[in-house]
Amino acid sequence: MKTIISDIATYLPSKIVTNDDLSKILDTSHEWIYTRTGIEKRRVSAENELASDLGIAASKKILEQTNLNPLDIDAIIVSTTTADRRFPSCACRIQGAIGASRAFAFDLNAACAGFIYCLAVADSIMKSMNLKNILLVAAETLTKFVDWTDRSTCVLFGDGAGAALLKASNDESKGIIATKLYCDGEEEKYNSILSHSGSQNGNRGYTTMAGRAVFKYAIEDMTLSINEILAENNMTINNVDWIIPHQANRRILESMCKLKGFPIGKVIITTRDHANTSSASIPLALKEKMDEGQVKQGDTLLFTALGAGLVWGSAIVKL
Ligand code: UT7
Repeated sequence: MKTIISDIATYLPSKIVTNDDLSKILDTSHEWIYTRTGIEKRRVSAENELASDLGIAASKKILEQTNLNPLDIDAIIVSTTTADRRFPSCACRIQGAIGASRAFAFDLNAACAGFIYCLAVADSIMKSMNLKNILLVAAETLTKFVDWTDRSTCVLFGDGAGAALLKASNDESKGIIATKLYCDGEEEKYNSILSHSGSQNGNRGYTTMAGRAVFKYAIEDMTLSINEILAENNMTINNVDWIIPHQANRRILESMCKLKGFPIGKVIITTRDHANTSSASIPLALKEKMDEGQVKQGDTLLFTALGAGLVWGSAIVKL
């Protein structure tokens, strides 16, 4: 039995904020942001538009696309670092809003690596619990959790959501081939380079990041996970059609290819339009490139990501 990605849908808030818009409120410029990150614009959710709202919109689209009866969804897993509330989870709200009343539902927070962590968990429970349909939603509103006066972080992030319908299939020729997850949570070392203060500060808090350190870890750790997952599955990069990484910064991906020998022509890069949407960035990139016809059914995809924790990992999926 295999877990396949049967369909994917996305949702982006309507408000577009360009680098030029930001240069009017901050000491920054389009030139600085674009050359350092590859980001040109990002979507910003409305004040009352929360992570679960983005997730509900993406989930409704996928139900429409697939004609799936929501009662046939067995489980809903939501990847988010920006849940509307401490509890109940975004997954519960989405379950109620789309009428998936037979599904159990929970959130999973693995920061920017959340989509890959959720794929691993979904694949595992699909098999161990004998499920048929899992809705995996990545929904993020990081623009609500940055300090809009801190130019070193706020220019980097955007909001968005992706929903993937995962199905159990007897077709062994496609689906999730492997997932590999990592975490190094040495608090002093990593919380000082990338974290969100949250209730530690007695308020909502803000995202802080030591960009250069994260840049280095992203290259080293994503490379490690790619090389290990390929080796463990007797594959090489030649067996992969597309590398779809977390879209934090175009320069990270270009440097990783240059330093580690990955073929840049196989790397999907969508940072320009979406900025860093945390765990939503991989499904957003996948959907965009499938719609453009670049990524096709039958392609072998390698997802990779690193985020706060640090957490990181890779997944290999044949569409
Ligand atoms: O999703 C989780 C994973 N996150 C990532 O992977 C992000 C990883 N890191 C990065 O993408 C990059 O490190 C950044 C884009 C965040 C920063 O690029 P950088 O080349 O590492 O720049 P820097 O932080 O070393 O800053 C260089 C200069 C500094 O000025 P001084 O000290 O050299 O005078 C900053 O103050 O650029 C300044 N700066 C800015 N200038 C204009 C920082 N932010 C801005 C800004 N506009 N927005």
